[in-house]
Amino acid sequence: MAASPTPPAWNRETDPFVELISAEAITRRVAELGARITADYAELGAGEDVVVLGVLKGSVIFMADLVRHIALPLTLDFIGVASYGDATVSSGVVQITQDLTRPIEHKHVLVVEDIVDTGHTVHYLMENLATRKPASIKLCSLLHKPERAERQVHIDYLGFTIPNKFVVGYGLDVAQRYRNLPFIGHVAQP
Ligand code: IMP
Repeated sequence: MAASPTPPAWNRETDPFVELISAEAITRRVAELGARITADYAELGAGEDVVVLGVLKGSVIFMADLVRHIALPLTLDFIGVASYGDATVSSGVVQITQDLTRPIEHKHVLVVEDIVDTGHTVHYLMENLATRKPASIKLCSLLHKPERAERQVHIDYLGFTIPNKFVVGYGLDVAQRYRNLPFIGHVAQP
């Protein structure tokens, strides 16, 4: 039976976004971040594996690419968080919707986020994770919008600083769509 063609999930010509960071630029930056992380954690002793902890769902594509550039023993886990408010106005109220599958006590945790916007989500998450007594905890975020900061957040590994625009692609969504764009775009005004 002939396979029917799959319609593309997005169309560069007609969909309402403008490319901000190309797929090639993302690939280069992710490789750089992976190399830095590898070098920084290289001194860990035997049995001191890194837990790479992805924040669902936005970090999934970034995390999948990043871990293939980290040349160290590591395990993966995920945490789901919901930030109340609409897509563009964060209320600062954050809730865990899906917890880790394993304890992180005495583990070296690298949290992987898609974007630090107001900073409320990451601030809450880092405080929550710290109470679980990891050996260390660091943050890697693909994007940072400093103009929107309401909380001071230290980002150990940052992909790109971006202007105050709502962005989609490479894991980031608007109303759950466009996570599968291979580049990062901002939503154009109609
Ligand atoms: P916060 O404002 O730093 O707490 O960010 C909360 C969450 O809002 C992020 O983890 C993203 O999932 C989402 N978010 C913030 N800015 C954008 C954006 O420009 N595009 C898509 N999602 C965003």
